[in-house]
Amino acid sequence: MPKVKIVTFGCQANELDSARIAGTLLAEGYAVTEDEAEADVILLNGCSIREKAEQKLYSRLGSLQGLKAERPGLRLGVAGCLGQRAGEQLLRRFPGLDLVVGNGEHLTEIPRLLAGRGPGVAVSEPVGLFDGAVVRDSRFRAWVGIMEGCDHFCAFCVVPFTRGRERSRRPEDILGEVRDLQVRGYREITLLGQTVNGYGKKLVPPVTFAALLRLIDAEVAGRMRVRFTTSHPVDVTPELAEALASLPCVCEHIHLPVQSGSSTVLKRMRRTYTRERYLDRVAMIREYVPDCALTTDIIVGFPGETEPDFEQTLELADEVGYDGAFTFIYSPRRGTEAADLSEQVPHEVKVERLQRLVEVVQRRALERAQRFVGRTVEVLVEGPSRTDPSRLRGRSRHNKVVNFTGLGAPGEMVDVEILEATSQTLSGQESILSRAAG
Ligand code: 5AD
Ligand code: SF4
Repeated sequence: MPKVKIVTFGCQANELDSARIAGTLLAEGYAVTEDEAEADVILLNGCSIREKAEQKLYSRLGSLQGLKAERPGLRLGVAGCLGQRAGEQLLRRFPGLDLVVGNGEHLTEIPRLLAGRGPGVAVSEPVGLFDGAVVRDSRFRAWVGIMEGCDHFCAFCVVPFTRGRERSRRPEDILGEVRDLQVRGYREITLLGQTVNGYGKKLVPPVTFAALLRLIDAEVAGRMRVRFTTSHPVDVTPELAEALASLPCVCEHIHLPVQSGSSTVLKRMRRTYTRERYLDRVAMIREYVPDCALTTDIIVGFPGETEPDFEQTLELADEVGYDGAFTFIYSPRRGTEAADLSEQVPHEVKVERLQRLVEVVQRRALERAQRFVGRTVEVLVEGPSRTDPSRLRGRSRHNKVVNFTGLGAPGEMVDVEILEATSQTLSGQESILSRAAG
């Protein structure tokens, strides 16, 4: 049985794609291994969102070509957004490469290309949805893809080019997968889509994301936690806020990328909302779910971003008070609208702005995290703590990492009393009461 090692770079969507690649290959008689030394095939599932992500994969590919010189039978492949974007030219740049495949339905072509002799390529624009088996690493947490692609074309972003146009799975297919995961003992699912809350607009008849959440809530009936990511601010509706507030299985957390606090920059980014409209949506979510955790993505140094523009981002981060934020330095991506804009911001300015932003984000995240101290929160145990293996690590419904002392086994839901908080993590001890009560 040939063995394949899959190396994932990038976001949750890439992790899900790796689980799809694993499912496809297992069905074709391959075995999956973690061990590079025993692998017959090594597949790099790559990200393309920023320059740095691409460089990481290229350097790994460079060293794997060295390995191939020692083991000529080894087959090397690149899949995912990077495969989609770089395509055939990768084969010229890395002569040791045997196959390059893109996203979506192309993942199912990997076995056919591996069976072929020469180098193989499958990178036309993805238009379909993956419909094969998904084999996940975790036995209790699962990503569930509900839509693919994106129609927004934000000026900085490669995703519409790498993942194609937006298309949604049918609710009955999603519910079938959720039911299957539940039967197999999964405790938490995260619904995935590039703009997950814009789900279902093109279905006939259309289905709103809030309606899908209601169907899933009825299906899991309190036996699983449900998360979703990534939401786009324009599709935050009262119906969604109401669903967040009223559906017991849906966790109290929304990831709502703002990207910039300046309406001028937002306009040039083609984000289709202003600072004020974004703040309105945040206020609406908090009105329905006062304790909701809110996280975001922010880019600094978008072309033309002035010091006053950036100060508006700082102010917004302070005003909203995020529970956490991913902060990025703008990285020009060939083929996107912003890459050709004049007024690119000098690197030193971007770095300095990032530092100032991180300071505000961390200060506010720490303040927000303090609200959990003294509370008892529900934690899904993931395994040993990364910093102290005698303790455990898990996640709360608000998506906070919790390190704690206790007896819970991985996959178990336990109550943890929170004793301390940092900007990133909570720390506590498993509640004896919860264990006594079974
Ligand atoms: N440069 C920097 N950050 C980017 N992102 C997307 N494209 C770029 C880029 N060209 C960020 C956005 C997005 C997150 C996934 O990555 O903040 O929300
Ligand atoms: Fe990229 Fe914008 Fe689509 Fe998000 S909404 S995936 S940032 S184009």
